[in-house]
Amino acid sequence: MNDDEARQLRTRCTRFVNGHGQQSAADYLATVPTQTETDRYGEGGVVAELETYVADLLGKPAAVFFPSGTMAQQVVLRIHADRSGRATIVFHPTCHLRLHEDGALERVQRLVGRAVGDADRLLTLDDLRVVAEPIAALLVELPQREIGGQQPEWEDLVAQVAWARERGAAAHLDGARVWESAAGYGKTPAEIAALFDTAYVSFYKGIGALPGCCVAGDADVMAQAREWRKRMGGTLFALWPNAASALTCLHQRLPRMAPYVEHARALADALRAVDSVRVVPDPPQASMMHLLLDVSSQDLAFDGASPNHSATWALTLGEMIQFIHMYMQLGFLALEPIIQVSDQPVEPSLGSVVLTGTLSPSSRLAMTCHVVPTVELPLAKACCSLV
Ligand SMILES: Cc1ncc(COP(=O)(O)O)c(C=O)c1O
Repeated sequence: MNDDEARQLRTRCTRFVNGHGQQSAADYLATVPTQTETDRYGEGGVVAELETYVADLLGKPAAVFFPSGTMAQQVVLRIHADRSGRATIVFHPTCHLRLHEDGALERVQRLVGRAVGDADRLLTLDDLRVVAEPIAALLVELPQREIGGQQPEWEDLVAQVAWARERGAAAHLDGARVWESAAGYGKTPAEIAALFDTAYVSFYKGIGALPGCCVAGDADVMAQAREWRKRMGGTLFALWPNAASALTCLHQRLPRMAPYVEHARALADALRAVDSVRVVPDPPQASMMHLLLDVSSQDLAFDGASPNHSATWALTLGEMIQFIHMYMQLGFLALEPIIQVSDQPVEPSLGSVVLTGTLSPSSRLAMTCHVVPTVELPLAKACCSLV
């Protein structure tokens, strides 16, 4: 299936457990109140209002709005490096800067990213202790997106941050999903941010607003961040639509973060019973999980997909059930108890299932399933409808 086909499939879906579902331009525009007070080059209006709100939410003296996390984190890490006179930033091997920013830390900022630990598990204090060179900052991503949203035990997290501090380095939080992380820990976003010198938080992921984010920290660091935002071209003439959307969606969705985690755990409970399906992490530590299917790449080589090439699957609820049936017929999955539940009438307002997976030569289909139900439903009902 190519990208276009996947997109077309997705547009046919009416129910989603992944994200907030298919949002139209009208849906996004509706998150920007018509009486919004505009800014000029990021000064005043709703942008200032959002920055104050987020600084308070994170318990930090100041916050600055940025158009993207890619820009915001480069800026803040650059400031930590300049202040410490060091160039090395330590992070998990799968962090966004390393995998998805095309080497910007090195090529744009002339900093040195140093990955420590293993890509398929969380960072540990022992991994950090291997680092001998002086470092500018430790970046911690919560939850760790590429390994299904795992989070370290709270004590481990505290110890890792202390390790950075003892070495005169800053601790920076990649909190793209800090709202989900906080709900997973049963703590407030401020309790998490309190561990860190600076925190980046995003508004278009779990919060579901238009693109944009904030970094928060001490006032002098944030003043520098504002200067760098301008140098990097991030101080657009008007930032108000995105800032207003962020405020609307924060008010609407922050209170839902705890139910989202409960919902993810309820789904995991249902999926755990399925042979050959592994939920990672189990139980989910935030409203996010990976589903690993124990099938060989040869088994998946249908529909033109070669076993050695990447394939993306976008499945509607019906297609997912067909998919599961097919694997049952082929004898790869034993799903009877779950399939039976699917005979019950499906709640029309629940949302569709869109799962994407990558067929890798390592013979596993990894399906990422970010669980954010589009409507509030009793958990049991939502679960039955999904399966
Ligand atoms: C963990 C993490 N950090 C940073 C980013 C960068 O955010 P942006 O897309 O706003 O540049 C992302 C985006 O997906 C992310 O998942």
